[in-house]
Amino acid sequence: MTATNYSFAKPHFLGIAGLNRPEVESLLELADRYIELNRRTVKISDKLRGLTQINLFFEPSTRTQSSFEIAGKRLGMDVINMMVQTSSVSKGETLIDTAVTLNAMHPDVLVVRHSASGAAELLSQKVDCAVINAGDGQHEHPTQALLDALAIRRALGRMDGLRIAICGDIAHSRVARSNVALMNLLGAEVRLCGPPTLLPSDADRWGAEVFHNMDEAVTGCDVVMMLRLQNERMDSAAIPSAREYFRFYGLDRARLAKAGKQALVMHPGPMNRGVEIDSELADDPQVSLITGQVEMGVAARMAVLDMLVSDRADSDRAGDAP
Ligand code: CP
Repeated sequence: MTATNYSFAKPHFLGIAGLNRPEVESLLELADRYIELNRRTVKISDKLRGLTQINLFFEPSTRTQSSFEIAGKRLGMDVINMMVQTSSVSKGETLIDTAVTLNAMHPDVLVVRHSASGAAELLSQKVDCAVINAGDGQHEHPTQALLDALAIRRALGRMDGLRIAICGDIAHSRVARSNVALMNLLGAEVRLCGPPTLLPSDADRWGAEVFHNMDEAVTGCDVVMMLRLQNERMDSAAIPSAREYFRFYGLDRARLAKAGKQALVMHPGPMNRGVEIDSELADDPQVSLITGQVEMGVAARMAVLDMLVSDRADSDRAGDAP
């Protein structure tokens, strides 16, 4: 596989903001090809052999961290997962000192998740390698948006002209911000829905129509994407109770019936079953793309890694040993 015919010339992958449509389409096309590789029994390429990837996750993760690890390994990279809890961060070492220290070991890619918005961009200014944003605070989660677009395109054949509702805790969601930007770029009509306490004050400027009534928001939609209530990012309870929340803002079959006939359900995970989404609906493969989203995550991240650093692998291939 080669990325030479694709259009992507950025040193880092920090957000969907700043990308153009050809760049996103190039990533999606390359990711499509990696899906095929990932479905083989032997899933290995030596495309990035000899390069080093460090995963630096300051916040918990199941999907993003493991799929970045698998993606790097399937491309032949040496992948190191920094255990932040047992690293010198626990002794007070700063984010920047940690990154500069790792940079001195000459990694080629640093994959960063951090609770502070802008953390990945800050690190990109301090290191020589490519930096990938694996989620920064409430700002962006660009590889999640990419994998979501991949899942939608494979299920429905396109993004152009689709009507998509993103519902739930928008205020704390980097997934929502990245998805709105990417869906707009690819020509979808996006709706945001949640209680006023869980919608950011500037939501009407994101490029989406804002709803507070869930039944109205999902009407006529091709895709309904539910978001997790991020209790860990809330100072105080933004909802009266989980039961009340589900009644007004949860997705079940009755509510989904108001969307388009073939409407699909998505959730980036992890899910609060019975809070934002009905458990049985989430597990129904006829309507739910949720497991498929996880599969797409590996391919989307392989495409990002390939686009960012395959030039390094090509240029250094001759120098096997000093
Ligand atoms: N969707 C997502 O970012 O999941 P994780 O927190 O498990 O990585």
